[in-house]
Amino acid sequence: MSNATAVRPNLADEREYVLGTHADESVRLGVQHRLWSASAHALWERVGIIPGMTVLDVGSGPGHAAMDLAQIVGGRGKVICIDESAGYLHQVSDQAKSRRLDNLERILGDVHEIESLLIDWKCRIDVAYARWVLCFLADPEKVIEGLSRVIKPGGKIAIQDYFNYEVMTLAPKREEFSRVIRAIGKSFRDRGGDPDIVGRIPGMLRRHGFEVTHIAVNQRVARPNEQIWHWPDSFWAVYVPRLQETGYLTAEEASAFFSTWQDACRNEDVFMFLPPVFDVIAERK
Ligand SMILES: C[S@@+](CC[C@H](N)C(=O)[O-])C[C@H]1O[C@@H](n2cnc3c(N)ncnc32)[C@H](O)[C@@H]1O
Repeated sequence: MSNATAVRPNLADEREYVLGTHADESVRLGVQHRLWSASAHALWERVGIIPGMTVLDVGSGPGHAAMDLAQIVGGRGKVICIDESAGYLHQVSDQAKSRRLDNLERILGDVHEIESLLIDWKCRIDVAYARWVLCFLADPEKVIEGLSRVIKPGGKIAIQDYFNYEVMTLAPKREEFSRVIRAIGKSFRDRGGDPDIVGRIPGMLRRHGFEVTHIAVNQRVARPNEQIWHWPDSFWAVYVPRLQETGYLTAEEASAFFSTWQDACRNEDVFMFLPPVFDVIAERK
């Protein structure tokens, strides 16, 4: 089955995680993938993804990482994208067609139900990759448990996610900025997510038959004249208005934030300490 969908996406049933699944967020995810792709590729090399493998992209979004992975595993391999957003899975399909990739499968559903959604893939996955997904979930341990059933013995899980997210700051520090970081953390937690999720992951992995073989951090700093500055810049544009709409910020707080940010964009002496993105690799025993 090439480029097939196990469950047919129905746009009327669109489910949204906290950042949404609208067009601007989809574009932002593309920018984000581009700016963090070096650390993704380094992790994929370290975990040993090679041609012929079957890789599961957990919470694939519109498939920016999945397209790269599909090229790496090649025609003899397969990439399975699972996401709760029908719209994002349509984009995976469109991208696959335009790049002439026929080794992607799409599965629509909640990753908490991964075991039943992947019933045909029991013990057949070589590597499961989960980037920026576990931090949004109410019960990430259920996902790890499900993954322990679909990853083959000796197979791997590779995670990129947050710990100590709220350490993110503008330097010098500004209250208008720090207030928004606190609001982001609260908005994630109120929906059941955890911006410190990586702190809990090694224990979850061990409880479900994985041995953690690698933990490292990608700690980056952004200056206004650097490419990586575009990452926070594009995130604020999408998420600060949403924080205002959902009552986490007042109009005055959002406006004070953007004015501080615009000043920062013009000031070569400031920098931003980005949220730490952790790499975790574990092997299924
Ligand atoms: C920040 S995006 C990350 C997308 C992709 N992993 C990446 O690195 O570009 C989070 C994704 O997780 C998906 N997601 C969140 N909760 C989910 C759930 N319970 N089941 C399935 N997908 C979920 C969202 O729809 C979204 O596509």
